[in-house]
Amino acid sequence: MTYHNLNMNNFWQKFEKPILALAPMAGITDSACRQISKKYGADVTYSEMASVTALFHKPAKTLKLVGFNKSERPYVVQLFGNKPEHFEKAAKIITKEIKPDGIDINFGCPAKKVFSHGSGCALMNNIKLSREIIKAVCENTNLPVSIKIRAGLKNISALKFIEKTKDLPYSAVMVHGRTYESSFSGTVDFSLCEQVKKIIPDKIVLANGGIYDPEDAVKILKTYPLLDGLGIARGAWGRPWIFKQIKQLLACHPELACLSDRQVSGSQKIQDRSRNKFGMTKSKIKKIMIEHAKLIYKDKKELGMFEIRKHLCWYIKGFPGAAELRKKLVLAKSVGEIRKILK
Ligand SMILES: Cc1cc2nc3c(=O)[nH]c(=O)nc-3n(C[C@H](O)[C@H](O)[C@H](O)COP(=O)(O)O)c2cc1C
Repeated sequence: MTYHNLNMNNFWQKFEKPILALAPMAGITDSACRQISKKYGADVTYSEMASVTALFHKPAKTLKLVGFNKSERPYVVQLFGNKPEHFEKAAKIITKEIKPDGIDINFGCPAKKVFSHGSGCALMNNIKLSREIIKAVCENTNLPVSIKIRAGLKNISALKFIEKTKDLPYSAVMVHGRTYESSFSGTVDFSLCEQVKKIIPDKIVLANGGIYDPEDAVKILKTYPLLDGLGIARGAWGRPWIFKQIKQLLACHPELACLSDRQVSGSQKIQDRSRNKFGMTKSKIKKIMIEHAKLIYKDKKELGMFEIRKHLCWYIKGFPGAAELRKKLVLAKSVGEIRKILK
């Protein structure tokens, strides 16, 4: 067996720790979202998940989905599916046509339409097939390969999954510290994420789940020092600057890590999203909203104006008069209209 993705330009090994990644999100982490996250501090960005079966049969639309701009680099394309031969061809096409910095394999998605076909998180229960899929990708690309897994599902834990695949030449793992059963809410087991790192000390391990403010991030990194970094998904909604804030907090105010010890409920925490800390004023946020809208419009034209709406609503959370503003913003049909509404 020949692996072409060894001993080469592996971007995962070149970062200063901690590595802060914009985690993959279907319908969210498009090129504009990745560009804005990168500009405001993300170290690495992931695509939305792309179907290997679509890439196998009719690649054009999916190749468009994962296209990127060099300012998003290092950029990782995430693949999902359940057939090794589809992964094999998808890895070749992505490597040749898209030329990202890495390829990721989705072992974590619990969505019914993915899981019920035996893809995403369902694969964690089938070690033999998972190994074939990882090998199929590693053998057909010279890019570093990473995997994204969950804390576990049914009888299999992330620890067992990693134990059974650790000999394969993937470079990095993002562990969503919730089980399949706890879906997108509930406790995130960061200690388990750190235990994963103990099994594979030479691979990069990023912990993911429930990180909504910089203080949380710093607390996790301090409590679990073996982690190489964090993956942030919903915590970056309407707050792409969270990555920069984490870095600022780590650099200047390590003592603030203890702020996360405060007792706040989950919903309070989401509202108290530290907007005005670190100098994030309303006018700065508005500027970033316009910047984001321009990027999405440039990439997707009129269609982008529909897709920016959810982002705009996230950005204005907590603004006085947000409800009124939201009603106007969701009707905006151009960057100019958005700019007028925000004046
Ligand atoms: C809308 C949405 C879309 C997602 N799409 C993907 C995806 O395409 N691939 C993937 O591996 N995970 C996907 N996820 C999972 C996230 O990457 C992340 O693991 C999860 O949201 C937990 O992190 P958080 O608590 O920071 O949001 C998605 C999550 C959300 C909310």
